[in-house]
Amino acid sequence: MKYVIGVDLGTSAVKALLVDRNGHVVHEASASYPLFHEQSGYSEQRPEDWVTGTMDVMKQLLDMGSVKAEDIDGISFSGQMHGLVLLDASHQVLRNAILWNDTRTTQQCRQIEDRLGPMLLDTARNAALEGFTLPKLLWVKEHEPEIYAQADVFLLPKDYVRYRMTGHIAQEYSDAAGTLLLDVANKRWSSAICNVVGVEERLCPPLVESHDFVGYVTADFAAATGLSVHTKVFAGGADNACGAIGAGILSDGKAMCSIGTSGVILSYEENKALPVAGKVHFFNHAQQDAYYAMGVTLAAGYSLQWFHDTFCETQSFPEMLSGLASTDVGAKGLLFTPYLVGERTPHPDANIRGSFIGMDASHTQEHFTRAVIEGITFSLRESLDILRDAGKHIPMMISIGGGAKNETWLQIQADVFDAEIVRLTSEQGPGMGAAMLAAHGCGWFESLEACANEFLRPAQRYQPNPENVAKYNQLYRLYQQVYDQTKVLSESLAAFR
Ligand code: XUL
Repeated sequence: MKYVIGVDLGTSAVKALLVDRNGHVVHEASASYPLFHEQSGYSEQRPEDWVTGTMDVMKQLLDMGSVKAEDIDGISFSGQMHGLVLLDASHQVLRNAILWNDTRTTQQCRQIEDRLGPMLLDTARNAALEGFTLPKLLWVKEHEPEIYAQADVFLLPKDYVRYRMTGHIAQEYSDAAGTLLLDVANKRWSSAICNVVGVEERLCPPLVESHDFVGYVTADFAAATGLSVHTKVFAGGADNACGAIGAGILSDGKAMCSIGTSGVILSYEENKALPVAGKVHFFNHAQQDAYYAMGVTLAAGYSLQWFHDTFCETQSFPEMLSGLASTDVGAKGLLFTPYLVGERTPHPDANIRGSFIGMDASHTQEHFTRAVIEGITFSLRESLDILRDAGKHIPMMISIGGGAKNETWLQIQADVFDAEIVRLTSEQGPGMGAAMLAAHGCGWFESLEACANEFLRPAQRYQPNPENVAKYNQLYRLYQQVYDQTKVLSESLAAFR
């Protein structure tokens, strides 16, 4: 039997899936690494930690014993998006990576808007948001000019790990689209944007397709892990693009809800001109020449994790969620907004903070847990509404990630989104998308769709319950008012953080 490996380089950990030709996950392994928040709003990681973590998961997979290194045909990647990795001329890392959830760059975003004007939406097809890569480059240029002066190339997180695995520098379109330096429709770095914002185009690496072969595993990487130097490495894609591939979002009309640390509503697009005017992100897919539109809730799973770690640390997650099914729609009048680290869609606002509204002496931990889950889901509905308002017909969505692990939450998604929600049999998220890119790259399948037909199967379907849909519609209108009514308060409280 032959195998591929999908590596999912996430924000809290790297996970690797060893997948056989039938799409079965034979083994999985993970290794976590720290996040550094040196100041409020800062979020950084050490690229070397990603490399040692990836080596560790490769070793774990091979140590499980049932597979020989020579039988691994290919490896590919899914990566946390937008993080800035700067390398000098000898390809040494110049500083910690500044991550997608770092919000220090508000001023650089305003500068980008002023300088680029309509070019931003016409060419980069996205609004200037703190999380994207270009504002981070400009921040380094302004605040650490001695580091910027030494930069020879910038990479995104998984591109750096792939470089260390193969010795070849490359970036692919689905992640490049999240930099704001890509001409998204024409699939090339935008010289015009580089000139206007003052970033040297030579810093932008060569571009490849996600299923393209980039190189073989180097002798050093093979020696450190037990991998074979004959294993081919393929470019891979942004985590949301890979999540979409792993959910089979490969043709028009398909959409997904993915709840990990962040949460996204994503819809496949063939129409390069979808009228969303920067209200949601518009990126190149990891499937050749396709696109997707997506709205992002910054703290989706992260809100639940925060709630767990802060208030229910002694309980397991299943314990904490055990009361969910027996609490009523609307958590007895308790509303939560998940703005723990600011927000992206539909409120690009780094200063807004979360809130519980309507606390009552009769509320118990179960109501708070339900309110957190409903608040995350309401936030995602705001992204869905933007897509529906732009003319997308979305009657069904595939749900992946943490949000697909709990039956009641799946039903809440169906009721809040007023859409059929489908869960897959063996849902492995972005890591499976990465494995599918390797399988397609190796030539196991002539297309990603052919691979999806073999690898992916629906498990359960959740239909919207009309009574709950009506209640949630009412609550959603109230939820939507919380942003405007807490914005000024959040801004004033920022001085005390
Ligand atoms: C998308 C985004 C996040 C990260 C999480 O624009 O910033 O979803 O990709 O890894």
